[in-house]
Amino acid sequence: MTDTLRGVIRGGFASVVALGLSVCLGACTGPIVRKDGGAAEAPPLEEVAADAPAAESAGTGEAQGADAGGATTETATEAAAEAAPERLDLLVLVNADHALPEGWEQNLDLVEVVNPKGDTVRLDRLAYDKFLELQRDLADMGVTIELNSGYRSIEEQQAIWDEFMADYGEEYVLEFVAVPGHSEHHTGIALDAYLVLDGVPQLTNEEIFAAQDTWDIIHSRLADHGFILRYLNGADEITGYSYEPWHFRYVGEDAAHEIAARGCTLEEYLGA
Ligand code: DAL
Ligand code: ZN
Repeated sequence: MTDTLRGVIRGGFASVVALGLSVCLGACTGPIVRKDGGAAEAPPLEEVAADAPAAESAGTGEAQGADAGGATTETATEAAAEAAPERLDLLVLVNADHALPEGWEQNLDLVEVVNPKGDTVRLDRLAYDKFLELQRDLADMGVTIELNSGYRSIEEQQAIWDEFMADYGEEYVLEFVAVPGHSEHHTGIALDAYLVLDGVPQLTNEEIFAAQDTWDIIHSRLADHGFILRYLNGADEITGYSYEPWHFRYVGEDAAHEIAARGCTLEEYLGA
C-alpha cells in the first residue's frame, strides 16, 4: 500500500472516528471546550450518539476549571486520580485476546468535549484531566496537540470496522482497527491525539508520520502525566497493531514511568 493511499485512509479514519461530524482542516484552531462548563467561547455542541450506553453520564459533572483551555484545578485532578482506582482498573488489558471486561462502562465517568475541529469526543474524567495537563505541558514547549478520539461504544467501533472493511479491505483493518468489543477506546482511558503545526491539524498518515520529531517530544512527556504510547513501532507481533504515534493509554504515573523506562508494551509489562 502506498503512503498516499494510507494518507487518504487515515484522513478518512479521522472523519469516521468523528462519526459523521465534519473535519475542518486548518480553520478551527482553538481550545478544547468542556461540555460541562469549561471555556466561554464554546462552539456549538453536537448531539451525542444516541446508541452510546454510557451517554447518560456525559456532561453531567461539575465544571472543574474556568480558564479558556478547559483546564482543571490540581485539586480536582487529584481527587479524580484518587477516586479512579476504585472505579476503574487502570491496568486493564484490552486487545485482540482480551475483550472489554463485563460491566466496565457502568464505572465510567465520561466527560464530553468538542475539539477545535468541531468533533464531539468523550473520555473518562481522569484521562481527560490528565490529557489537559499533558496538553499544557507540551504547549509550554511550543507543541500543540488536540483530542481526536476517546471513548467509543461497541456500536461506534462496529461502524468504523464496517466502513473500513468495505472501503479499504481486510489488510488495512487488521493493521489498524480493533474488533468491536476489543478496542482500548471502549475503556474511556485511551485516546487519539492529533498534532497542530502552524495552526494546521495534521490528520493524514503522510502528515502524521512526517512529524516524527515532534511525536518524539510528545512521547517523552507522556509518562509524567500517566500515559503510555500503546502501539510501539516494531511491536506489532505483541500488541497486534501497527505503530500508532497518536494513540495514548492512561495507566497512572507509576506504571507509565516503569513501562517507559523498560521501553516495553503493556502486554509485556503485565506478562500477558
Ligand atoms: N486503532 C486501535 C487499534 C483501535 O481501533 O482500537
Ligand atoms: Zn486509538
